[in-house]
Amino acid sequence: MNRIISLKKPKSSIAEAYRGIRSSIEFFNIDKKLQVISITSSIQNEGKSTVISNLAVSFARLDKRVLIMEGDLRNPSVHRMFNISNINGVTDILLGKKNFTECVHSSEVENLHILTCGKIPINPSEMLSSKKIRDFIEELREHYDYIFIDAPPIGMVTDAGIISTYTDGCIFVVGSGEVYIEMAKVSKEMLEKVGANVLGVVLNKFTPSGRSGYYNHNYGYYASETKNTSKTKNK
Ligand SMILES: Nc1ncnc2c1ncn2[C@@H]1O[C@H](COP(=O)(O)OP(=O)(O)O)[C@@H](O)[C@H]1O
Ligand SMILES: [Mg+2]
Repeated sequence: MNRIISLKKPKSSIAEAYRGIRSSIEFFNIDKKLQVISITSSIQNEGKSTVISNLAVSFARLDKRVLIMEGDLRNPSVHRMFNISNINGVTDILLGKKNFTECVHSSEVENLHILTCGKIPINPSEMLSSKKIRDFIEELREHYDYIFIDAPPIGMVTDAGIISTYTDGCIFVVGSGEVYIEMAKVSKEMLEKVGANVLGVVLNKFTPSGRSGYYNHNYGYYASETKNTSKTKNK
């Protein structure tokens, strides 16, 4: 919860940065409906879960009905972000063991719901590419204005690419000091190759001095411009 600055400190410059990203997404929405949005990065720890959770809070504050859904069925973390149980979640729904209302959590933010992973499956890629999950997402569209899917890193497994085939757009996070520039470029290209609609790049953990930290960092959002990730320092 401490990582969700948009919730704890809505007047902070960080929350303001997230409102900026939110505006960019709303701007995209003028021409094409962006309702299901995934987030990925090259590797772990670049800030996907932090960014998606803050963005979701930011949208919920606009009185939008928002769902955050765990998309990393190998190494789930959404439940930790919100300090909630991961006993029942998306995998239990897909296996037909539970229904959605038995699994979805409300949060302290009105309009913000959370769907955690549930039991870790033995076949995550298969599950993520099933017709069942596509149908499930279509059903969710009826109930939420925005569905944010926290996907695994694209550099490690194909799951994020699979997820992007049924989302309307994908946000690519680059963690400054966490990833080599070349790897970030290749990862973004991999996403584009599978037909993902890459909405933009969030440059996370970036500080002009190169140091990262919540209180002295900046967020940057660049609409589909890989070249801007060059600000990422080489590890
Ligand atoms: N902008 C930021 N400034 C400082 N620390 C951050 C920032 N974004 C994320 N972190 C920290 O980096 C770590 C990884 O973030 P997380 O969102 O879990 O990454 P991912 O989901 O990509 O693995 C966490 O400890 C988180 O608190
Ligand atoms: Mg994560």
